[in-house]
Amino acid sequence: MSEITMEKIIQLAKTRGFIFPGSEVYGGLQNSWDYGQLGVELKNNVKSQWWKRFVHARLDMVGLDAALIMNPKVWQASGHLDTFTDPLVECKNCNERYRADKIDLTKPCQKCGKKDTLTEPASFNLMFKTFLGPKEDQSNVVYLRPETAQAIFVDFANILTTSRKRIPFGVAQIGKAFRNEITPGNYIFRTREFEQMEIEYFVHENDWQTHFEAWLKELHAWIDFCGIDKNRVHELEVLGADLAHYSRRTVDIEFDFPFGREELYGLAYRGDFDLKNHSEASQKDLVYTDPQTQEKYIPHVVEPSMGVDRTVLAILLSAYTEEEVDGDVRVVMKFEKAFAPYKIAVLPLSKKDELSIPAEALAKKLAKKWNVDYDETQSIGKRYRRQDEIGTPYCITFDFDSLEDGAVTVRDRDTMKQDRIKIDELEVFFNKNL
Ligand code: GAP
Repeated sequence: MSEITMEKIIQLAKTRGFIFPGSEVYGGLQNSWDYGQLGVELKNNVKSQWWKRFVHARLDMVGLDAALIMNPKVWQASGHLDTFTDPLVECKNCNERYRADKIDLTKPCQKCGKKDTLTEPASFNLMFKTFLGPKEDQSNVVYLRPETAQAIFVDFANILTTSRKRIPFGVAQIGKAFRNEITPGNYIFRTREFEQMEIEYFVHENDWQTHFEAWLKELHAWIDFCGIDKNRVHELEVLGADLAHYSRRTVDIEFDFPFGREELYGLAYRGDFDLKNHSEASQKDLVYTDPQTQEKYIPHVVEPSMGVDRTVLAILLSAYTEEEVDGDVRVVMKFEKAFAPYKIAVLPLSKKDELSIPAEALAKKLAKKWNVDYDETQSIGKRYRRQDEIGTPYCITFDFDSLEDGAVTVRDRDTMKQDRIKIDELEVFFNKNL
């Protein structure tokens, strides 16, 4: 109906328990966000569906869960210590800092309004530094990983020998990454602490283009599966100076967010950049021997890289729907069922023990299999609206007739159609429909 703005999403996410401002009681902390009781379910569904699809459902993939803090030599070899930088300018008057490539340097400082006060751009390394152990000296400096990818390269030889996989094969990892972004912003779009779902797919050099195209298709299929609006998804061929230091080709998958068209995911051809550098720096043999031809080579890598938080944001924006119902606006989060935080809500028509006791027992029974909400407060109309706003695909109303006929009313979130179904047949119904 009306335009979907970030304000609407942020408001709904806060009031319904998806996403809260981090450390809010202390006034927050620069663009940090907490996933509340529904947000964590949505986010976990994204991660578990991704894992199921890209690790379990494929014979050419295995997973990894590596340490977040790695030997700093990793970041030297990967090029992150030297080149993982953004251009930083600072206002000499008010000391506000900006990313030089994100502002018009000829304009006055956005904060204090003074003209010609910005410094020359300097390279600012985005890695978070800390110390390992109690001694805060240079020899104990370590970094929080800025991408999950590097551990996959560093563990390559271990995975290869223990998994017995043959090229082409891939390694997937989901986990936190940290970047000391100069200007985080746009809600959960750009934060300093975020989660990635990354795949390093190892191929023979001659085959990289075939695999690159195949992964591009896979990315679009995943986006569709998540219920992300494909009309707002675009490809961008990244060129020249915009390519990351390790990349020979990158296609960004962009999404039309309310604040503009921005990167959702990236697909990069990293060549043999990482394994070659780690092999040289560590003096460990990272060469692969083809069991059939005996050819020895350093594998090349195609890397689909996806942000968990940006996926959640694109899902929230795509699911948000306003409909006019009887002169009222109904807000519905039309999540794909696999991603909905709650699958079923059990709502007794009255709070009286007569109904609430058997209704709660039914909720507990269904909760063994599905994530179930149980709610006995407010009018049934208000409870339906609340479940619509949190995207629950089915509401079960337990009424006085249920005591007589052993049946309940099942309401479909999207069509609002209500069907009477025998309690004994509910499991079969949900097995089929969820
Ligand atoms: N290993 C390759 C790599 O890290 P990237 O394009 O820098 O590539 C991959 O990041 C994905 O991680 C992005 O497409 C985005 O989804 C997510 N991402 C990157 N920086 C982020 C940030 N500051 N906040 C939230 N998500 C971020």
